[in-house]
Amino acid sequence: MSMGNRENWDSRLAFILAAIGSAVGLGNIWRFPYIAYKYGGGAFLIPYIIALLTAGIPILILEFSLGHKSAKAAPKAFGFFNKKFKWIGWWAVLIGMSIVIYYAVIMSWSLIYLGKSFNLAWGNATDSYFFNNLLHLSKTPSEIGGVVWPIFWGLIGIWIWIYFSIIKGVKSVGKVVYITVVFPWIILLILIVRGITLPGAMKGLSFLFTPNFAALKSPEVWINAYSQIFFSLSIGFGIMIAYASFLPKKSDIVNNAFLIGFANSATSLLASIAIFSTLGYLSVQRGVPVSKVVASGPGLAFVTYPAIINLFPFAKELFGILFFVMLLTLGIDSAFSLVEAFSSAALEKWKISRALMNFIIAVIAIILGILFSTRSGLYWLDIFDHYLSVYGLLIIGVLETLFVGYIVGPKKLRNYANERSDFTIGKWWDAMIKYLIPAALIIILIWNIRDEIVKPYGGYTRGALLIGMSILIVTFIVAIVFSISRARRIKD
Ligand code: ALA
Repeated sequence: MSMGNRENWDSRLAFILAAIGSAVGLGNIWRFPYIAYKYGGGAFLIPYIIALLTAGIPILILEFSLGHKSAKAAPKAFGFFNKKFKWIGWWAVLIGMSIVIYYAVIMSWSLIYLGKSFNLAWGNATDSYFFNNLLHLSKTPSEIGGVVWPIFWGLIGIWIWIYFSIIKGVKSVGKVVYITVVFPWIILLILIVRGITLPGAMKGLSFLFTPNFAALKSPEVWINAYSQIFFSLSIGFGIMIAYASFLPKKSDIVNNAFLIGFANSATSLLASIAIFSTLGYLSVQRGVPVSKVVASGPGLAFVTYPAIINLFPFAKELFGILFFVMLLTLGIDSAFSLVEAFSSAALEKWKISRALMNFIIAVIAIILGILFSTRSGLYWLDIFDHYLSVYGLLIIGVLETLFVGYIVGPKKLRNYANERSDFTIGKWWDAMIKYLIPAALIIILIWNIRDEIVKPYGGYTRGALLIGMSILIVTFIVAIVFSISRARRIKD
């Protein structure tokens, strides 16, 4: 199929950087450390590595091949092979679009912290600063408590930034990532040097690296390991399908998937070394075990990184500024990849200008993002993240692998990937796509659903969880409607 007038990445490097840029984001710096902390540090790492090898990289190859072969964004990429399955692509991009609504709110917190870095306004009690002074956190999800205006204004700022970053489409994505990929690794290395030279650091690191085999019996550890891989590698959102669709015909697939998979997890580990060494230090200072040193949850990064910054011997403000600039630059290319996956799909269906499409998306996302900017926003963020990133992405993973396994035929896609890759994948990949991955994901999903019926997630009320869960149903219905409604096609 001809690529027609589709935009292409300028070079192979631009694509790799954009895909790494999408993968490496708040998921590595903010999400991975708190998930690893919540599910037992070393206990989490084994399932995490298994998830990378048994699902992350094989599905990345699958998404790259689907996108590259069809040269279409997710819905049409599925439709290219079988028209009846466009809805899988729509569901994936709608889940991604729902995630970016709260993702942008976390970026807004980061923006506020950037401002606070100039005078280290968070002080020494970084926990209390985050929960009380920044979030004004209410007691329960139902106590909405009104909008926290700085977070809301920050959210608008972030959307203006996202809008301008993707205004020219994929070409501008390629350029922005040149600056946003390399810089973060330098900052993380500086934080690590500070972190591991703190007294008590080893205590934190041993919490992170000592395996705990007993925890492997817990379904929530497994589901969170797999979902962290999906979230962090940007798979299950349709992003990598859309990005690969912009690749020139002669582009390596397998190499890129391995490179991106490992580079991404390496970044998460770097961030965690910085975080856990500081947690070790705080544990010694406060005289509590590492597992109890801070509240585990989405606030961890915003409590711990400022604590490391406070411990720099000189130029603390400068390190604070550099860190939050880094967090924002990491987040922005992931955020716009989430938007791009949806908007490129929508632009293949509705004939409006890219600028107008992105504007509509930004306005809707700001309006829906208000919930996460309220005093109860943190709870809702946690609940929605649980259903979208944990259940949503894994369900998409099941659907994608079954689709390729039984509709497209894994051999066909493997041959396609192998023909254009420096090194090739064998029949093991077919077996993984057809049997191993869908079976493993289905078992993990059922095992968790069973557990959560008895013990509701996070101790929230069933009503709050039902609202969170409804997002999956709503996005599914919208996906079906989009896939069967008459398209106003753009000729390509
Ligand atoms: N993959 C992106 C991240 O990790 C969404 O932040």
